[in-house]
Amino acid sequence: MSKITVIGAAGRVGSNAAREAAGCLKHGDELVLMDIPLALNGLRGIAIDIKDAALTDAMIVATDDRKEIAGADIVVVTAGKPRGPGMTREQLLLENSSIIKGIGQDIGKYAPCAKVIVVSNPMDIMAYVLYKSMGCRPNQVTGMGGALDSRRYRKFLAQEFGCKIKDVEGAVVLGAHGEGMVPITSTVRIKGKKPNDMEKVEEAGKQAVVAGKTMADFGASAYFGPAPAINSMVKAILADTKEVIPSSVLASGEFGIKGIFIGLPAKIGKNGVEEIVEIGITPAEKEKLKDSAKSIRRAMEPIEGADPNAN
Ligand SMILES: NC(=O)c1ccc[n+]([C@@H]2O[C@H](COP(=O)([O-])OP(=O)(O)OC[C@H]3O[C@@H](n4cnc5c(N)ncnc54)[C@H](O)[C@@H]3O)[C@@H](O)[C@H]2O)c1
Repeated sequence: MSKITVIGAAGRVGSNAAREAAGCLKHGDELVLMDIPLALNGLRGIAIDIKDAALTDAMIVATDDRKEIAGADIVVVTAGKPRGPGMTREQLLLENSSIIKGIGQDIGKYAPCAKVIVVSNPMDIMAYVLYKSMGCRPNQVTGMGGALDSRRYRKFLAQEFGCKIKDVEGAVVLGAHGEGMVPITSTVRIKGKKPNDMEKVEEAGKQAVVAGKTMADFGASAYFGPAPAINSMVKAILADTKEVIPSSVLASGEFGIKGIFIGLPAKIGKNGVEEIVEIGITPAEKEKLKDSAKSIRRAMEPIEGADPNAN
């Protein structure tokens, strides 16, 4: 029997993530949709709609009571403000960090063994804030960003090379989930081969970096796209697949980075982050990753408890 709680479930990302998660649950399992009291009525409607859409035997509960986190195996955190036109994810820092801090404390209180997937932006920093406030082991907390950015990169690569998406392999985006993200070019394979035209690879990477901003500038923000990316991580934990997924994890020296949450290739399984995998990338890509780490560290300076000695 599994229990998944989605916090922020009345929102666009949370409700779509919950809809995807419902499809993975069976009789005896439980899906808890959680949000603030003001959103509770709408949330009750969403619970009915998700049950109809997934036609699942799992129990689906709508609540504003944090005690309902108790016993959760997986908690998906999508609570908080999305960015508006012209805003960066980093501008959301102060408002969302106070929301995430409270949520982290409650998960630590009611479900201290839960595996937590943080989605709220600025995601790498929110994963750090949640980890600190939950007071848990580092492997229990991960952030979703790289999974979505890598899916986008793969799509743009297929467009650039005029091939099917399934013909693209090794589309990996690491580093910050923000303007400092690092699309890895050296691992890309098109129809099993290293591409000759690296300019097209670079161009696809550039498009992946601005994909979120493009939507924000239209006055929109992503919520269909994140849902399957979140669910790939939920499924890896539920089924203990140990799939390697670019995920925000607490680095402890891998790729020369430590003390912050940053997107790295991570084996995801029943224990959350089972291992950070140091895939082969070029020295230039390693340097970009270190610069990306610096951008996260700079952005998290206003956050209490950041380790100034981490490198
Ligand atoms: N990591 C990613 O790839 C990614 C992608 C898209 C969006 N996001 C981020 O996800 C977050 C949610 O985006 P959205 O479009 O769903 O926003 P939204 O405004 O539609 O939903 C946010 C929800 O959070 C709820 N909420 C606020 N404070 C809460 C609290 N203390 N407890 C419980 N619920 C609370 C709100 O009531 C609302 O229902 C944003 O921060 C956004 O930037 C991240």
